[in-house]
Amino acid sequence: DSTLKIAVIPGDGIGTEVMPYGVRCLEAAAKVFGISLSFQTLDFASCDFYKKHGDMLPPDWKETLSGFDAIYFGAVGMPDLVPDEVSLWGSLLKFRREFDQYINLRPCRLLAGVDCPLAGRKPGDIDFWIVRENTEGEYSSIGGKIFEGTDRETVIQETVMTRTGIDRVLRYAFDLAQSRPRKRLTSATKSNGISITMPYWDSRVREMASRYPEVNVDKYHIDILTAHFVQRPQIFDVVVGSNLFGDILSDLGPACTGTIGIAPSANINPDRKFPSLFEPVHGSAPDIAGKGIANPVGMIWAGQMLLQHFGYHDAAAAILQAIETVLAQRDQGIITADMGGKGTTKSLGEAIETAILTAKK
Ligand code: NAD
Ligand code: IPM
Ligand code: MN
Repeated sequence: DSTLKIAVIPGDGIGTEVMPYGVRCLEAAAKVFGISLSFQTLDFASCDFYKKHGDMLPPDWKETLSGFDAIYFGAVGMPDLVPDEVSLWGSLLKFRREFDQYINLRPCRLLAGVDCPLAGRKPGDIDFWIVRENTEGEYSSIGGKIFEGTDRETVIQETVMTRTGIDRVLRYAFDLAQSRPRKRLTSATKSNGISITMPYWDSRVREMASRYPEVNVDKYHIDILTAHFVQRPQIFDVVVGSNLFGDILSDLGPACTGTIGIAPSANINPDRKFPSLFEPVHGSAPDIAGKGIANPVGMIWAGQMLLQHFGYHDAAAAILQAIETVLAQRDQGIITADMGGKGTTKSLGEAIETAILTAKK
């Protein structure tokens, strides 16, 4: 059966609002390009589920999700209801680890029609990928609290970096850089201050670089790297970073291209032993949830990355083209407030869906 089975997990907040348009755009692309997709919506991995069941996931979640080819994920988090570390470690972060989705791939692109907060940039000037390590690093569960409730109260959380974990994300990033015209790879580091793990990261970058003689490699400490993201974003091609550095850079990058509302993310298990997960970069945005004004582009673009992952390149290209066409029209009644418009999730989502449906095969 060639049907691609997709588990749909809307989650919380605006995750539930943008997801319907993500699914509709995927359905539109599937229709035009003759792809067979099936969707099953799941109610777990949400704070509502937690309130009912005392846990973010049912006991058999892993078997259930393993039966799908991919997971299409909205966003999780309602910090007023459930502490973030409980809801996120109980869902998204668990999926990334247990499904060994060790690559988190996030594009950063300045699209026509989206106002850039940086002066003097035009569409195409900013166009790079962030490759984020997604299963270890600073996001470790090793540590603890001692002397609780006393003046000596102490908390410790270790950073864990393994040779396998670093090398596999570097290999992916170097392969990606190698495949691009500029063949440039930038490593995010902090080996001047974080004196054990980061020098080790740098040494693995040097080792990997020796195997990719065509790739131009440089590295910046994370502090100045954030400055370069703002002042010289055009120099970047592929940026690779640890879990935390990649997280920070992948909000900053899209913000430099106008809004984090458009940014997508692919959590990939390249070995294909487990399903990969596709989601927007943004979260559940409790501040705007329920208003119907969330930008659906990040969710829709994540669907584009899903199709790309399975080799449906024409359909994926059509979705990206539809996003670009609609945004380039700059119709204030259609685009959402985060892009300076007065439109809604519905107006923008439906405009992109229509543009996909009229795409030429
Ligand atoms: P956030 O991304 O939810 O929101 C940050 C800001 O950006 C808010 O002002 C929000 O209104 C705006 N924004 C985000 N997405 C938007 C969109 N599509 N359209 C228009 N505006 C948008 O980040 P946060 O406020 O730090 O986190 C809120 C909750 O989401 C927390 O519980 C957090 O842990 C969670 N979170 C979840 C994910 C995820 O599930 N992948 C990612 C990030 C944050
Ligand atoms: C992201 C999010 C998550 C992360 C949070 C919600 C745990 O910020 O996907 O970028 O830190 O990875
Ligand atoms: Mn993040």
